[in-house]
Amino acid sequence: MPSLKAIINNLETQVQYSEYDNVMIALSDYVDWGSCGGSATCGTCVCSIVSGEEYFPLPDFFEEEMLEYVGKPNHRLGCQLELENVPDNKLIIKVENGQV
Ligand code: FES
Repeated sequence: MPSLKAIINNLETQVQYSEYDNVMIALSDYVDWGSCGGSATCGTCVCSIVSGEEYFPLPDFFEEEMLEYVGKPNHRLGCQLELENVPDNKLIIKVENGQV
């Protein structure tokens, strides 16, 4: 299985994921988030991409609106970051205030 590096509350961990996961699902054993199930309506899955931004499309209107609403422009919603095109060990995700 491919893996990514997650920095959660300044602690680094290596996380394996399925190509069918998104970042919110991949990190759900490590972070208590995703209360809307991935529909970009709860704003709990805010994260930032430290490395690997090129593997994802730009945020759509709804993602940008939610990020503005939660006061985190220039971040991403983990549920909108599909991992299917991310090569093994090329992605670094940072989560601040993640509840583990
Ligand atoms: S899981 Fe709700 S906005 Fe991402």
